Amino acid sequence: MAQQAREERTVLESITTLGEAGKKAPKMEGLPTGIDGLDQLFFTTSIQRKKVVRKSLGGLPRYSVFNITGVSDTGKSLMVEQFSAFQASQDRRVAFVTVETPAEFVAVALKERAKAMALDEKKADENIVIIDAASHRVLREDYLALLDTLAHVIRNYKTEAVVIDSITGLYENREMQARTIVRPFYNFLKKWHQTALMVAQKRSSHEEFSPEAAGGYAVSHMVDGTMVLFKQTIDSTYKERMYGLPLGEMIRLFRIDGCRMCGHDTSTHLLEITDLGLVKIGPTLLELKNQGR
Ligand SMILES: Nc1ncnc2c1ncn2[C@@H]1O[C@H](COP(=O)(O)OP(=O)(O)OP(=O)(O)O)[C@@H](O)[C@H]1O
Ligand SMILES: [Mg+2]
Repeated sequence: MAQQAREERTVLESITTLGEAGKKAPKMEGLPTGIDGLDQLFFTTSIQRKKVVRKSLGGLPRYSVFNITGVSDTGKSLMVEQFSAFQASQDRRVAFVTVETPAEFVAVALKERAKAMALDEKKADENIVIIDAASHRVLREDYLALLDTLAHVIRNYKTEAVVIDSITGLYENREMQARTIVRPFYNFLKKWHQTALMVAQKRSSHEEFSPEAAGGYAVSHMVDGTMVLFKQTIDSTYKERMYGLPLGEMIRLFRIDGCRMCGHDTSTHLLEITDLGLVKIGPTLLELKNQGR
């Protein structure tokens, strides 16, 4: 059978010199998150007198798209709510896509976070724009409709940040599609120069210390970085001594698992949720061990 000749198709728009692309590159700077202990974990480096010197970014790298992953009850939602309330208090608009919880309930949580952080609630009211995908099935089932809605919000409200809680809710029971959904969202958020946090729920506690099970299927390769939240049970006298907690208790831990945009701390930290429902990143396990000595 004769093979049909393939028509040549060169995509000229995709070609650019490094110099041209460099001119469009945004400046590397930090976006403070409002989450205690997190901002100093990102840094850039320079060489001074032949020595590598770290300079803290003082926030999440601006225009980065991060995955926040962990099993249930690890503090993911609290963290993104806190981030949103803080951005709003700084007069930065946030698009908050809620996939799990209807808008009115997310509103209560966001107001609680603002109150707990002693922020101006009025600014939260004005600067957080909620897209309720929990109540509108079409947005969960047709991700292009969600991207169009998000583009409308970004354009009309001039948002600087986007939160999606959760991205995994967009491919529930269709985990094989994780990559086909996460990729367009990532490209979209980069194109619109948004700093974004996407919550990825992890279904099992397998591979606790890795983000692999989070929406699985190599989703972590597609984003700029991943923050992993996990829980550990005090099940040995070693852990009892290390954490100063009795057997059977539970502790929450946190780690940044890769960031393409800048340097970052790689240690495992204690994650605390205060009585007011605020997430705090605490000392590293090594610091904790040394304190216990
Ligand atoms: N207002 C609050 N005050 C004190 N603790 C709270 C408050 N809100 C939540 N918590 C605690 O923080 C935990 C983590 O809550 P969060 O909703 O952030 O979990 P999550 O990681 O988003 O879980 P899921 O995957 O089920 O959505 C709760 O289970 C609860 O123990
Ligand atoms: Mg949640």
